[in-house]
Amino acid sequence: MCGIVGYVGSQESAGILVDGLRKLEYRGYDSAGVAVHDGKQLQVVRAVGKLKNLASVLQESPLKGTTGLGHTRWATHGRPSEENAHPHVAGGVAVVHNGIIENHLELKAELASGGIEFSSDTDTEIVAHLIHRALKDSERLLDAVRVALRQIRGAYALAVLSESEPGQLVVARNASPLVLGVGDGESLCASDIPALLEHTRDVIFLEDGELAQLSADGIKIETLEGESVTREPKRINWSPMQAEKGGFKHFMLKEIFDQPRAVEDTLRGRLDLENGDVVPREMGIDEAAAKQIKRVCLLACGTSYHACLAGRYWMEQLARVPAHAELASEVRYREPVFGPEDLVIAVSQSGETADTLAAMKSAKEAGARVISVVNVLESAIPRAADGTLYTHAGPEIGVASTKCYTAQLVALLMLSVYLGRRRGTLSADKGRDVLQALVEVPEKIRITLESKDKVFEVARRYQHVQHMLFLGRGLGFPTALEGALKLKEISYAHAEGYAAGEMKHGPIALIDEDMPVAVVMPRDSQYEKTLSNLQEVRARDGQVIAIVSAGDPESAKIAEHVLEVPVAPDVVQPLLTVVPLQLLAYYIADLKGTDIDQPRNLAKTVTVE
Ligand code: G6P
Repeated sequence: MCGIVGYVGSQESAGILVDGLRKLEYRGYDSAGVAVHDGKQLQVVRAVGKLKNLASVLQESPLKGTTGLGHTRWATHGRPSEENAHPHVAGGVAVVHNGIIENHLELKAELASGGIEFSSDTDTEIVAHLIHRALKDSERLLDAVRVALRQIRGAYALAVLSESEPGQLVVARNASPLVLGVGDGESLCASDIPALLEHTRDVIFLEDGELAQLSADGIKIETLEGESVTREPKRINWSPMQAEKGGFKHFMLKEIFDQPRAVEDTLRGRLDLENGDVVPREMGIDEAAAKQIKRVCLLACGTSYHACLAGRYWMEQLARVPAHAELASEVRYREPVFGPEDLVIAVSQSGETADTLAAMKSAKEAGARVISVVNVLESAIPRAADGTLYTHAGPEIGVASTKCYTAQLVALLMLSVYLGRRRGTLSADKGRDVLQALVEVPEKIRITLESKDKVFEVARRYQHVQHMLFLGRGLGFPTALEGALKLKEISYAHAEGYAAGEMKHGPIALIDEDMPVAVVMPRDSQYEKTLSNLQEVRARDGQVIAIVSAGDPESAKIAEHVLEVPVAPDVVQPLLTVVPLQLLAYYIADLKGTDIDQPRNLAKTVTVE
């Protein structure tokens, strides 16, 4: 968690840093701060709470200087406060950090025994002291940082600015993301690409165990052992606009409306419709390997886990392989049994989620083949995987995931077709039917989005809701879970997703006239059964919001509210039915006036357990 940004060049840095932090605020927003070198000395400004608090302090007392670094924090060590806000300074060395220093207690004790006093409760301040101490015996800041890094254990992306060396920044990474921006007469660093795009599209991904020295003249990379590294920049094709709100009130709404494009981009260049197949390219699984697989285990957290639940159905149905979806946080401590006949699929928007990364690594160590479905290029999970199918959803800024969820569904469905074709369980004709249905999804999402006003009316009716139930069967079950999660995350209402078949085993006791129930019931193979559940809810005066296929005659007679999605084959239903539920959560939250893009206590990238 936390976002870091750094700039060195010829422009005033404070504004650039704040703009960069704005793009990273999704990573945490407990406090923010900047350190700027004005050529003579360091100046540091920090403020508790959101970035706008820092921005208004800077507006009143601007900082001058063309080298600086900034940070937006998601508190781990020490409560959100000004003292615990980054940058942390020790004797003219300013540090911003994303990650956790695991041996901070022993290092702190050691520094304290040498007479050092601390002004914060953070693990990061220790790093500033270590670098400051090492600077006394080092020629370059880079060397002092290296000495300090040798003493610390844990995950970090660090940016360091020293009063003694104006015009340069030193950065380092181990298991936390850091991207370097190669500009014209300027260099930048950031936790994520959108923070760099205003300045450059040429980026270098720093690897674990590397340090870099950034100056107006360029970037020098070295390993922790002191070897120099040459790495060509990669060109990023996203436009800066893709990381902007583009006229929408919130990023989340923009991202909900961006789903047709996200699906199209995730499909692009990967389908072979003629042969009913998916182009194998990036998967890292050839035909022999696909045939060997005896079990598929899909691993993820949060919304990505819900995508895995749908993926499980597809794997079993199309590739006829036993499949299960697992919460990564549970798997990693369960002593699970993995082996060479397992295919483990780690699914993650950020590619940095600590639990998912750890669980996939343990599966890999046990001999499983591990592939990933990830949105953020070159993040930790794809680096650790044998192959990756990237979702091309583009940057997702809203903390509650929407377009990345649908893109993950697309990727998992493609992967199921790919495996089914190689395992001989899916004919070319059937494969073609599935892919054709997928090709039609973007337009069907567009049509679904057109009914936003109708969803808004339903949201208006339930804007004060405190509890809500979401039911679905089969492929509708993950949608029910995801609909409930969206509502909880951004409106803070209590919501539960349930398999409709489980209704009689508990949740039915909750149903009365005050309990709205969203029922996911497109015209699929489970329709009749879910319709019975709907009737049972109505018989107990529950208020039903039915998510149905267009033209459904039955639901309209029974449900209080009907939200339609276009008719489509069963296999792609989850890509459509989730859309009205995303909009419903969004509008309820907006009517309540919550902070939709940055809901309380949440963060987009969870790099701690
Ligand atoms: C956090 C985010 C969720 C996300 C989950 C998993 O909780 O707020 O939106 O679904 O992490 O993240 P990942 O990046 O691994 O998909």
